[in-house]
Amino acid sequence: MKVTVVGAGAVGATCADNIARKELCQELVLLDIKEGFAEGKALDITQTTSLLGFDTKVVGSTNDYSKTANSDVVVITSGIPRKPGMTREELIGINAGIVKGVAENILKYSPNTIIIVISNPMDTMTYLALKSTGLPKNRIIGMGGILDSARFKTYLSLAMNCSQNDLQATVIGGHGDTTMIPLTRHAQYQSLPVSKFLGAEALAKVSADTMVGGATLTGLLGTSAWYAPGAAGAMLVESILRDEKKVMPCCVALEGEYGQSDICLGVPVVSGKNHWEKIIDMELNAAEQAAFNKSADAVRNMNSVLATLSL
Ligand code: 2OP
Repeated sequence: MKVTVVGAGAVGATCADNIARKELCQELVLLDIKEGFAEGKALDITQTTSLLGFDTKVVGSTNDYSKTANSDVVVITSGIPRKPGMTREELIGINAGIVKGVAENILKYSPNTIIIVISNPMDTMTYLALKSTGLPKNRIIGMGGILDSARFKTYLSLAMNCSQNDLQATVIGGHGDTTMIPLTRHAQYQSLPVSKFLGAEALAKVSADTMVGGATLTGLLGTSAWYAPGAAGAMLVESILRDEKKVMPCCVALEGEYGQSDICLGVPVVSGKNHWEKIIDMELNAAEQAAFNKSADAVRNMNSVLATLSL
């Protein structure tokens, strides 16, 4: 198996590091446009091989896509990250051209690959990758919901003083501060609704903290987060390459599911060998469906900006 991570910044390098440690593939290529940068990160990761006891070959490349040939999965993290006070949506003008170019170059050498999109604004970049490549919908997956759900679990566990690993919690909708929907009604602690343990006010705070989870970190760090985004990307690669068939909220093309079409948006999907396989219906109530529709409207609005850019 071979994986490529495009973009050797903090998110891409962390994702690559996780993939290498987990030995998800024999060869991992890290590619960046900045001269020597990916080679440096790849060498640094390689030098942890005997320290951490893994055996993945990690190769760096400065924009030489021939090195990525025959990748089974490609993770796109390229583009500029958020600065404090910026929304993910404000990145569209720069990142759209970058993501489109990366996807085209990747497909020249790996026509059968699965593409995972992490670049922001993630829902629109996933839609752009789908439309510009013309790949079958099951081979394009945006990662955002996995990260948002991990943040949801973090804030729930802090409020409940429990292990994150005993929680089931899902965020659907867009990967934006106002478009994501933490499904508090569906969240469970050992099969019990979390509303048994947290009052409405505490749950509303968990939900609000989750929605601005990325912005909170951007404020603290001065740039976008990387540990959780990188780990979330690697978890998706793992489910695909190991054919785990895990259910994770991911941004995928909807064709009538959840009442939406011609859009890529976060819903729980089963991912396994070769592609994302199916969408799980969370049976939303009227309020949740209304929130999902509102999220879709906002993402569709952002997608419409693509037509105004010279890509
Ligand atoms: C985040 O939410 C980078 O979008 C990513 O941290």
